[in-house]
Amino acid sequence: MQAMRSPADTMPIMPYTRAMNDAASQVSVERRAKKHVKAPVHRWFAVCSPGTEAIVRAELATLGLEPAAVDIHGGVEFPGRLDDGMRANLHLRTAARILLRVASFRARAVEDVFRETVAQPWEAFLPQGCRLQIASTIHGSRLNSRSLLESTIREAVCRRFADQGLAVPLPESAVAADTTRNTKTDAAALTAAGAQAIQARLDSDHIELSLDSSGELLHRRGWRREAVAAPIRENLAAAILLAAGFAPGMNLVDAMCGSGTFAIEAAHIATGTPPGISATPPRTFAFMEWPAFSRPAWDHLCKLAGPVPTDSEIVARDIDPAVLQAASTNADLAGATTLIIFEPADFFDSAPPCPSGLLVLNPPYGLRLDATRDAAALYRRIATTISSRWAGWRYAVVMPDQSLARTWPLQTDSSLRFLHGGLKALALIGKGPA
Ligand SMILES: C[S@@+](CC[C@H](N)C(=O)[O-])C[C@H]1O[C@@H](n2cnc3c(N)ncnc32)[C@H](O)[C@@H]1O
Repeated sequence: MQAMRSPADTMPIMPYTRAMNDAASQVSVERRAKKHVKAPVHRWFAVCSPGTEAIVRAELATLGLEPAAVDIHGGVEFPGRLDDGMRANLHLRTAARILLRVASFRARAVEDVFRETVAQPWEAFLPQGCRLQIASTIHGSRLNSRSLLESTIREAVCRRFADQGLAVPLPESAVAADTTRNTKTDAAALTAAGAQAIQARLDSDHIELSLDSSGELLHRRGWRREAVAAPIRENLAAAILLAAGFAPGMNLVDAMCGSGTFAIEAAHIATGTPPGISATPPRTFAFMEWPAFSRPAWDHLCKLAGPVPTDSEIVARDIDPAVLQAASTNADLAGATTLIIFEPADFFDSAPPCPSGLLVLNPPYGLRLDATRDAAALYRRIATTISSRWAGWRYAVVMPDQSLARTWPLQTDSSLRFLHGGLKALALIGKGPA
């Protein structure tokens, strides 16, 4: 059992922190930020939905960022400087957030955690007086209390700032209510708007401390203000499109578009619009508050990433005109209105608008649809419609479970498995009969 005591009361830290204090008085926070954050090559970790790692790897490679060879469930590690981390936040369509690995050490007791954490140059990473969240996961370790681990990290970070006469991060109670905090998977919890977050992963007595560079999850591009029932996350929609081979110049029809997610993501892929600046006004990122952040450097990265013209035809259809109105409002906020044609249409009773392209379908499989009484019948009907009306089109169809996939009658080239609203789901990708 781990003793419930405060490491700050028990550690002989004064001589050490006094020395740090002296050093800090000689070197400004800006210089430390340059030395510890801006200049070095860091380890970054692009968190993603399990099942989409290969797509994230491919996206990183396109950015010239070389993913580490090791396979990690739910993310991809890559080396890079601060600018590279900013580029990952700006460009990755399929990641959920980008973490910056700050420290990695052996920790069998809170004293180890405190000693190693207080030694990190947090003042170079975090803004003074920021609201700070600490989240953790623990597996197979001697130290087995998450609350003790988190409070120790907080105490060490605050001590680090206080010893240098800098404004300490605010206590957790000062952080805006975080309704997404999930006791089982805290490391995946959202960072409250405007807050900074440290994630601690303690595994077999080895701890990894990471700083969340994204802030709000990356799928929150900032343009989806009008939601309909069961919208798909923007980064999952992008992952499905990329897995299905959607690329600039291809045509796309989302025949059950809901809030327009697939069509808007497709418009951004077709024009090379980075997801990080796709909304008006653009979203912000946690790294923008860091002492090492340079607004001119960010503006330069954004300028380099400007959209290009496209000849892709992108059509968003839905049976419900009110839903189409919501999709059109979202497209407007995403700067994609002129790229998308919105059409009210019943999928089972309409023809393709052009000879070929990618047909995307995210049916309302949890609900009853017209005369269709169950999901299996719904998907049979969809397959029949693709066969009879969409000859020569590629398709990507979202479905809730593997048993439905087994009975899917059309030719399939690949599938993508992911979690959708906390439930297992998959997209089948293939081509309708010629
Ligand atoms: C699960 S939602 C799609 C969510 C969408 N992918 C998003 O991100 O918001 C399913 C949509 O299918 C539409 N729908 C239902 N039956 C339809 C039909 N027969 N033809 C076209 N659209 C239909 C519904 O109006 C609903 O907007």
